[in-house]
Amino acid sequence: MKQEKSIGALWDDKFSREGYFYGFEPNAFIASKTDLLAPKGEILCLGEGEGRNAVYLASKGFNVTALDASPIGMTKALMMATNKGVSFKTELLDLEQWQPTQSYDAILTSYLHLEDPLRTQAFQQAIQALKTDGYFIGELFSINQIPRDSGGPKKPELLYTLASLESIFSNAACEIIHLQEEDVLLDEGDGHQGQALVIRVIVKKR
Ligand SMILES: C[S@@+](CC[C@H](N)C(=O)[O-])C[C@H]1O[C@@H](n2cnc3c(N)ncnc32)[C@H](O)[C@@H]1O
Repeated sequence: MKQEKSIGALWDDKFSREGYFYGFEPNAFIASKTDLLAPKGEILCLGEGEGRNAVYLASKGFNVTALDASPIGMTKALMMATNKGVSFKTELLDLEQWQPTQSYDAILTSYLHLEDPLRTQAFQQAIQALKTDGYFIGELFSINQIPRDSGGPKKPELLYTLASLESIFSNAACEIIHLQEEDVLLDEGDGHQGQALVIRVIVKKR
């Protein structure tokens, strides 16, 4: 019987090509929100891929951990860090196996596309893993992005609606500060190019 590929192996296929699929610059929304975060805070980047957000945050003085299931993604993230003269920790694991062992001042994610029930489980675990007043900040593709070819998965179960995120966070110990679908111009490597419908979310741990 044919064995299904793990999520890490699937992303390894994408990240094994030359270059950085989503480029070297951080996601613009995440970069624009670092002023919310306490200086030198502990930050976890969830589904961090090849490391562009982690490198940026480490360069701003935060103590960063990058978590991802892709060995090639995490190796390339550490290579980018070395090239830019910064450092951070990595955790190589599938979120199915995630058991947070420390608390964070912020948990950030760009384009982490998970199907339920893993989605609800991982995002609610993320809220639990935040310190009081810590932030979860994310940019994710909206379900309304499907007809566009500027990036993102085509499988509806992997995409987000405002209602699905509201339901996850209203059942967690946090306050929704910002939850909006936005039509933005993406310029992120070969992976994300052009006008895209994303959902931007900021929640604060109670
Ligand atoms: C679209 S890429 C985004 C990468 C990075 N956040 C960025 O914006 O450049 C999605 C990332 O999520 C990771 N990912 C997806 N499902 C995961 C899971 N179940 N556990 C851990 N990582 C996962 C993939 O390995 C991949 O690196």
